[in-house]
Amino acid sequence: MINIQEVTKQFKDKKKYVTALKYVSFEVKQGEVLGLLGENGAGKTTLLRTIATLLDPTTGQVQVGGFNTVKQPAEIQKQIGVLFGSETGLYDRMTARENLEYFAMLYGLGKHETKVRIDELSKMFGMRDYLNRKVGGFSKGMRQKVAIARTIIHNPSIILFDEPTTGLDITSSNVFRQLIHQLKREGKTIIFSSHIVEEVSMLCDAVAMIHKGELVYHGSLEQLYEQEGSRDLNYIFMSKLVRSGDDYAI
Ligand SMILES: Nc1ncnc2c1ncn2[C@@H]1O[C@H](COP(=O)(O)OP(=O)(O)OP(=O)(O)O)[C@@H](O)[C@H]1O
Ligand SMILES: [Mg+2]
Repeated sequence: MINIQEVTKQFKDKKKYVTALKYVSFEVKQGEVLGLLGENGAGKTTLLRTIATLLDPTTGQVQVGGFNTVKQPAEIQKQIGVLFGSETGLYDRMTARENLEYFAMLYGLGKHETKVRIDELSKMFGMRDYLNRKVGGFSKGMRQKVAIARTIIHNPSIILFDEPTTGLDITSSNVFRQLIHQLKREGKTIIFSSHIVEEVSMLCDAVAMIHKGELVYHGSLEQLYEQEGSRDLNYIFMSKLVRSGDDYAI
């Protein structure tokens, strides 16, 4: 479903090059929920942006549903829903409902379908009380819920979430977790990055760990637990970083 092949991404920062991804290769199967783990600056957002066709890889390639991100971005954009951390992409002057209607329109949803979908999502996220309020006055968590709803308004088959639960309270994080379970039941392919290891261990079938732009592990969680002789993902993650040659006090 998502095929990442030898992807390297370099950014030019003044006169220096920053290598955000180094020869990253892995595959995400249809219906799989993959957790992307890595420290700050590891390259998670860069990888998600590349999959979402928003960045071109410097070398290597990414195929999503059989389409190439550089050559066929429009085909991919139709099938995916993306949410990048703090960039909610919402319009402050519009109400939550207007925002959702606007994005539904961009994706070509009809009026009736849009209404049904907004009802469904606002019920699920407990947003009905503030659906008709302007987003400008929303708290961080309220915004994030609207942003998550926006991401899936068009019922995409592939969903990319970059740190989706940052800023959400316990209740909302749980709603997000339920959402992932539901999307999984619907057969969606999902990648999400998170700093919350428990979240990844609870929700994901597979995990990709990135350290300083390099893939240090990719595979199923069960395989990883077996291989490491532990079910403590936090510990496993830290020990992978240590083995990659860095100094960490654990
Ligand atoms: N547009 C850019 N220009 C220059 N450097 C960039 C750019 N985008 C990302 N980088 C660099 O690429 C590296 C990876 O960044 P990225 O945002 O992908 O990390 P991340 O894993 O998402 O981190 P975080 O957990 O903090 O969100 C960092 O060194 C970052 O400074
Ligand atoms: Mg990031």
